[in-house]
Amino acid sequence: MQDFHIDTRCVQSGYHPENGAPRVVPIVQSTTYKYDSAKDLGDLFDLKTSGYFYTRLGNPTLSAVEGKIAALEGGTGALLTSSGQAATLISLLNICQAGDHVVSSGTIYGGTYNLLDKTLRQMGIEVTFVAPDASEQELHQAFRANTRALFGESLANPAMVVLDIEKMASIAHAHGVPLIVDNTFPTPVHCRPFEWGADIVIHSTTKYMDGHAVALGGVVVDGGRFDWNNGLFPGLCTPDSSYHGIVYTETFGNQAYIVKARTHLMRDLGTAQSPQNAFLLNLGLETLPLRMERHCSNALAVARFLEQHPGVSWINYPELPSSSMYPLARKYMPQGTCGVLSFGVRGGRDAAVRFMESLRMIAQVVHVADIRSCVLHPASTTHRQMTDAQLAEAGVTPDMVRLSVGIEHPSDILADLQQALAKA
Ligand SMILES: Cc1ncc(COP(=O)(O)O)c(C=O)c1O
Repeated sequence: MQDFHIDTRCVQSGYHPENGAPRVVPIVQSTTYKYDSAKDLGDLFDLKTSGYFYTRLGNPTLSAVEGKIAALEGGTGALLTSSGQAATLISLLNICQAGDHVVSSGTIYGGTYNLLDKTLRQMGIEVTFVAPDASEQELHQAFRANTRALFGESLANPAMVVLDIEKMASIAHAHGVPLIVDNTFPTPVHCRPFEWGADIVIHSTTKYMDGHAVALGGVVVDGGRFDWNNGLFPGLCTPDSSYHGIVYTETFGNQAYIVKARTHLMRDLGTAQSPQNAFLLNLGLETLPLRMERHCSNALAVARFLEQHPGVSWINYPELPSSSMYPLARKYMPQGTCGVLSFGVRGGRDAAVRFMESLRMIAQVVHVADIRSCVLHPASTTHRQMTDAQLAEAGVTPDMVRLSVGIEHPSDILADLQQALAKA
């Protein structure tokens, strides 16, 4: 399967029915699984054999979708979660505990910023935010002896800053820690961080992967190449007393990280995705390459239109040659980025609000990256809890409108923008 093009993997990977089995991944709507002997179940609990015993830890519908996403990213295994937030949390807690420290790009989704800045700090995990375009020296200086991960978004929401994945990976590795990349916006169809040295990839599958705005979800993917045996990750390399002394790296090799995320954190936190949502996510994944192509061609047409419009003071779309992000976008996302762009309405916050309220087809919603075009004012919604300094760090200005270009006919999207800008 790994030899097939990504379009084929989106359709075919993860589920291989036996003779006479359903052709389409079935929804296994069962919390439990039946066994004939106590020993069979005991062996499952001791991780001596693999199999399903309780849906919080594994379910056939989820396994099929996890296999597909691992194949799309080129990883050794994946774990579906109830949301993107849960995926971020699990990706970090799997290797960090109280007393540890994380370095993160400050230009990230507002919810992730809050999770790191507030909740992780409350749990005793310190975070240092860095500018993604900081010099190598500044980035190195952010690391400490207790740093356990470097975190960033391949294509930042909503600033559309492209992460220099290769540079970030080499800096993380110089400090003996993994690079964790949130690859939600470009999806594996347009960017595969493992090919550039990233170690763990996460997604909010709620966005393009699902694509229809019907199923909340997340996923953590293990690249399988990071060497955890460097003394910094005892949770993976020393006996786990809650599994009779199992050592994840010894027993599970290049799947140690993802097995621990499932058997330890999913067991204890319970942030599992429902089989129904996994089924819907799979439907979305089947058409992901087709939708991404249309999102990008529509967004490029919109970006070119906005770039010329006198009512627009600035525009940020990495596929425009005028964008400072253009060279990095060409390198990491040569087939296209995604349908999201941000721009400033001339006249500031009030004009931005008038523009958004004048739109007829494009709706104001607290979502992004699905088939319906939508807009949002980040400074007063997703990034509302931030101070002005934090807003600047996240690349969010008061006049910024985030536009998520859908897959409607491009002429209808342009016409709606044109009439609303005339009223702004
Ligand atoms: C880049 C990114 N990561 C993570 C999340 C969180 O995902 P969820 O809303 O599925 O919890 C979001 C949500 O908008 C996002 O845009």
